[in-house]
Amino acid sequence: GADGKALGAGVPLSDLRRAPACSGPLPALKPTDRHTVLIRTDLMLTGEAPEPHPSPDQLQDRWDHTHAKLPCSTHNLLPTDRTTVQSRWDLIHKALSVPLRSSHDVKDAILKYNTGQAKRWDFSALHSYCKASEAQQMFGELFPAMAQLALRAPRLLTQPIPLLRTQCCRSLTLSQEQVSCLLANAFFCTFPRGNSHRTEFSNYPDINFSRLFEGSSRSKQEKLKTLLWYFRRITQQRPTGLITYTRQCLQRLPSWPSSEKQFGKLHISCEGTIEDQGYGTLQVDFANRFVGGGVTGSGLVQEEIRFLINPELIAARLFTEALEDNECLIVTGAERFSRYSGYSDSFRWDGDHDDQTPRDEWQRRCTEIVAIDALHYTRFLEQFQPENMSRELNKAFCGFVRPGVQTENLSAVSTGNWGCGAFGGDKRLKAVLQMMAAAEAERDLMYFTFGDADLVKDVLHIHKMITDTHTTVGSVFRLLLQYYECVCKKTTRSKPQETLYSFLSEHL
Ligand code: AR6
Repeated sequence: GADGKALGAGVPLSDLRRAPACSGPLPALKPTDRHTVLIRTDLMLTGEAPEPHPSPDQLQDRWDHTHAKLPCSTHNLLPTDRTTVQSRWDLIHKALSVPLRSSHDVKDAILKYNTGQAKRWDFSALHSYCKASEAQQMFGELFPAMAQLALRAPRLLTQPIPLLRTQCCRSLTLSQEQVSCLLANAFFCTFPRGNSHRTEFSNYPDINFSRLFEGSSRSKQEKLKTLLWYFRRITQQRPTGLITYTRQCLQRLPSWPSSEKQFGKLHISCEGTIEDQGYGTLQVDFANRFVGGGVTGSGLVQEEIRFLINPELIAARLFTEALEDNECLIVTGAERFSRYSGYSDSFRWDGDHDDQTPRDEWQRRCTEIVAIDALHYTRFLEQFQPENMSRELNKAFCGFVRPGVQTENLSAVSTGNWGCGAFGGDKRLKAVLQMMAAAEAERDLMYFTFGDADLVKDVLHIHKMITDTHTTVGSVFRLLLQYYECVCKKTTRSKPQETLYSFLSEHL
């Protein structure tokens, strides 16, 4: 802690590895049966938008349970009356080709191909934002440009997009431009899933932005402002990079009680955020099992904010099935477009962010974000139950481990109070569990306590005791089990008198 407050405590940040400096060479980018690449890899030129693969005249159209259903599919049909059907894409095309001068034009267009929803959808937030905005004339240009981008779908998305389904390890690499086209379609609510909770999509997050437009809260308007800023940026200048979305599922999980692993290095600070100070590290998204959580609805905490400032993350909602206990989603290359201030109700868009993160050999920004969903606790003691502690350890480990990558090529993990806000977990338990998972995955940790100075002291103290005594992950796990047996199970209160850290300090 000699570094002083602002620099945080534990090892200095410069002792922790970051990408791209620590990364090993990447293999050549090419499609495999576990990795779908939606662009031509033989034509990649830095600074130019990549070409879709295959070329648009060879467009492959799939409409089945293993691929994302795209609005431009010829199978996307709408019944006109009892006997005839019409192409929904034709309808979308017509609706979005008229000049969209205002939020009312946008609403009218959206309702032309979402006829069933007309009565239920509410566009108040969109109207108030557009009315309040000083740059009203901006929409006269922006909405038509977004519509044109959405309508390029059959030329940009020429290959079916496999779904990242439960228990299937699989990667998708798309260009940022292809992702922007998906997002423009999401904005105009063109994805054929309706809002009906038909079973086919019930295990996937919502992709259409319809809920973003509803209500009258200030935070809805700030969300819209942040997303429209992204659309403004990418319609003014085509983005040129790539993004990879990987669903990682672990078949073999560690045996926690017998782990011989030693704890790694820790930097901990009550200042700074994962997204700012954690550049080049593995950045944790405090996720919902439906990735993105309430980003298109009313949520506005860590995950939703991250998805708003790095909107390319939102595209994952189209193809990522809800995460199970041994699964995570890793997104590499999402760019940040916005700054923000505040948090939750006080969240405000705070202007442009010019992302200077270097690109890797696959033209992806060296930003790796992992979505891991903690358990949602309502009673304090539940989280100390052995099966719940194991579940959280396995989930974090799944997010942190990179099978086949050498330890020296792994960056540190940047995280914080995972599962301890909306999900009600205990910060001190989660900090220990995350340190254990990082140790098991042989990675160091950057921990941002988000203003909690006592937590800095406490976690640092426990980490120092563990490392000074060379206590293994397995021994710490066994102490956690003892704490549950001897303290949690015996208490008659909702929260035991003896804290976890005093118990650990006594027994380490
Ligand atoms: N950097 C570091 N720490 C942060 C940051 C940041 N940028 N933002 C917040 N924190 P929460 P959860 C701290 O509640 O409990 C979403 O709706 C801050 O102390 O977002 O895992 C998801 O979709 C905050 O209280 O995560 C899920 O549905 C704490 O991290 C659900 O919330 C926890 O942030 C997940 O809830």
